[in-house]
Amino acid sequence: MPFSLIRADITKLSADAIVNAANSSLLGGGGVDGAIHRAAGAELLEECRLLGGCETGQAKATKGYRLDCRYIIHTVGPVWHGGENGESEQLRSCYRNSLALAEKLGCTSIAFPLISAGVYGYPKREAIRIAEDEARKFLAEHDMDITLVIFDKDSFDISAERFDRIRQYIDDAYAKLHDDSERRPLMGAAVMRDEASVKPKKKSIFGRQKSSEAAGSVPCEIAEEASAEDYFSMRDESFSQALLRLIDERGMTDVEAYKRANIDRKLFSKIRSDVHYKPKKQTAVAFAVALKLDIRETEELLSRAGYALSNSLDFDLIVKYHITHGIYDIFEINEALFRFDQTLLGQN
Ligand code: APR
Repeated sequence: MPFSLIRADITKLSADAIVNAANSSLLGGGGVDGAIHRAAGAELLEECRLLGGCETGQAKATKGYRLDCRYIIHTVGPVWHGGENGESEQLRSCYRNSLALAEKLGCTSIAFPLISAGVYGYPKREAIRIAEDEARKFLAEHDMDITLVIFDKDSFDISAERFDRIRQYIDDAYAKLHDDSERRPLMGAAVMRDEASVKPKKKSIFGRQKSSEAAGSVPCEIAEEASAEDYFSMRDESFSQALLRLIDERGMTDVEAYKRANIDRKLFSKIRSDVHYKPKKQTAVAFAVALKLDIRETEELLSRAGYALSNSLDFDLIVKYHITHGIYDIFEINEALFRFDQTLLGQN
């Protein structure tokens, strides 16, 4: 996946390049620097001695030695002194120069720790924002798998207010689900519909409106009156066909669509060339976000791949929360999914 967040020990990862948050001597230290030197072995230090140190914001490469990588890219982050001494620009340079060096070395994947967010005291939330922002800019022009490695739980958090709002949305949905199931016996065999199906009828983005769509049926909980013909008419268009049509209708290029969806070119080519390609759910949802579909449109697109959005899964509810609130930034949604220990949007 072009950009992902994971909770791991970076010395245990496999990537073409593993980035070290070093100090200007490049002769090892504590934190991730110490962990990388211990895991890579003594030869790493021998090579580092020949590099003559490294300026803050710059990056230098060595071999990977016992780490599962071709290169270790050593970069020196700024020490946080309150934010008025150019720290932000220096930290951005660490990511930019490390990515440029990885590109020059022919790397297709790179793993970063949260540079400067430990001993050097950079505020973690801001350190993450800078890492994501520089990754986003690089990925707009290049293809590479960039992983931001979060080592300890408290290294990563979304704002308490944002966390509470999403948590409340999830809890409300569960409460409603419980409440509905309590009342279900009173409603006989009536098919439960979620709020989408009682909304005023809206022309489907999937072409001609079928009687079932006119009735506002939601494909994931298709109303019982949906006829077999409706089912099959909905099968007119595969996921791949629907996706390509929606990209065209929105005047987007393929590149814009898959970059916004956090999908790489290879996977997009597979989807484009195989009309029956069945994506993973997180891939299908990622494209719904990239295309800025609303809930109903998202559920229609997902139904082409055999998926539905439910009110009983945190992943689905976190996605619905963001779409309902018009938040289509996949980095932002993935931060929330990561915070709630869910699979990220894109490809896995
Ligand atoms: N894997 C991934 N991330 C790690 C690991 C690990 N094994 N160990 C620590 N981290 C995380 C920390 O939790 C922090 O979020 O790396 C981030 C950066 O922390 P530091 O390693 O302290 O690096 P930094 O803040 O840039 O300070 C650099 O510390 O280790 C010394 O020699 C280094 O002087 C330099 C300074």
